Amino acid sequence: KSILVLHGPNLNLLGLREPQHYGNATLDSINQTLTNKAKLANITLESFQSNAEADLVDKIQSIATKSVDFVIINPAAFTHTSVAMRDALSAVKVPFIEVHLSNVFAREAFRHHSYFTDIAVGIISGLGAKGYELALDFAIEKINHS
Ligand code: DQA
Repeated sequence: KSILVLHGPNLNLLGLREPQHYGNATLDSINQTLTNKAKLANITLESFQSNAEADLVDKIQSIATKSVDFVIINPAAFTHTSVAMRDALSAVKVPFIEVHLSNVFAREAFRHHSYFTDIAVGIISGLGAKGYELALDFAIEKINHS
């Protein structure tokens, strides 16, 4: 069983970038925590970050020929712009959870719309790095009971 965690643009800067919105944890530490948690559940976890929309679309498309059971995705700024990533997720038909570190609904109006939410299993926004762990707990439970 396997889970793919996707991180969109600028999330490579976590820890340095606007900690009031995004916290102090680095992307590496978040990925490490998730990998350990998945390992305990006998699930393989791959994480992938890119600043490029095309690379994220390619990564999502690659799921079609692999057995990925669940995706956890923080599309970052592409949340609010990317029909292409949305279409890729629809094409591969993999269940996914949308995660945001900050509460996007408490921020600028342009962050209130997401191209992903209506096709996601669910969304976690505003719980910081913990949101990824909660999403992973849910995904593990779903995988183990399906
Ligand atoms: C974000 C929220 C987005 O609006 C923003 O562009 C990001 C990060 C979050 O995790 O809170 O880059 O997805």
